[in-house]
Amino acid sequence: MADEKLIDPADHTREKRDFSKFQNVAATAPAYFSVWDMHAYYGESYIVQGVSFTVHEGEILALLGRNGAGKTSTLRAIARMDDPVITHGEVWLDHKSLHDKKSYEAAQLGMGLVPEDRCIIQGLTVEENLQLAQIAEPVGWSLDRIYELFPRLKERRKQEGTTLSGGEQQMLAIARALARDIKVLLLDEPYEGLAPVIVDEIEKTLNIIKEQGITTVIVEQNAVRALELADRAVILDTGTVVFDGLASEVLENEALRMEYLAI
Ligand SMILES: Nc1ncnc2c1ncn2[C@@H]1O[C@H](COP(=O)(O)OP(=O)(O)OP(=O)(O)O)[C@@H](O)[C@H]1O
Ligand SMILES: [Mg+2]
Repeated sequence: MADEKLIDPADHTREKRDFSKFQNVAATAPAYFSVWDMHAYYGESYIVQGVSFTVHEGEILALLGRNGAGKTSTLRAIARMDDPVITHGEVWLDHKSLHDKKSYEAAQLGMGLVPEDRCIIQGLTVEENLQLAQIAEPVGWSLDRIYELFPRLKERRKQEGTTLSGGEQQMLAIARALARDIKVLLLDEPYEGLAPVIVDEIEKTLNIIKEQGITTVIVEQNAVRALELADRAVILDTGTVVFDGLASEVLENEALRMEYLAI
């Protein structure tokens, strides 16, 4: 934990933590996945400034915002990466706290972060990349189940992972997360640099994963595509939540899109 004195006490009032200001947060069922009043820093730079949101089981949430709004930093903070440093905030997944865990422990409890650079391991084939994900317990989807969802990966299972096309590498990155026993999939710009036809294919896959019960948070510059896929949306601006509601509301609200997404 970083130096507590970095926190502005004004950001920790009860009003700030009051979920009632967010729309469409079910008051009855406890949220499956929740981020509560998260504050995080890179060194002295205060980047994640009190982010809260909830996601219900099997839901797809689009986490949107302009360049530099703090989307990647929020995902990294949630997944308990070393940077940014969380100074305050809670993360709960399926009734278990993650904010007091190390990143590998959060991963064991079902956190599946697929970073923007996809992190395919050099020198390993597609299949070896998947097998490596299954070395540690708890193991998730079998190779057969993964290959059924991603026939392209089956065709290329003996090919070195880093020589795959961008779309195939994204599929491998998602498949590798599923090879672990994940409960929530955090995707950072999965459509980046991909042709629309490949985006279609990945979107179809994400819908199938959703039907199978996985909860997903998708960060995307291609906000329209993400909103069409997602059930709900959270929009960030300078590290704070400025909208929390239905994805369809954002699609219908041109003023909101212009102000915070520039689309
Ligand atoms: N490692 C770092 N050290 C210092 N500042 C950083 C670091 N990474 C990001 N930042 C800063 O934090 C702010 C939020 O960055 P972040 O990458 O979270 O934004 P983003 O919403 O993901 O943007 P983009 O859409 O461009 O990916 C930016 O001002 C960025 O310059
Ligand atoms: Mg980013």
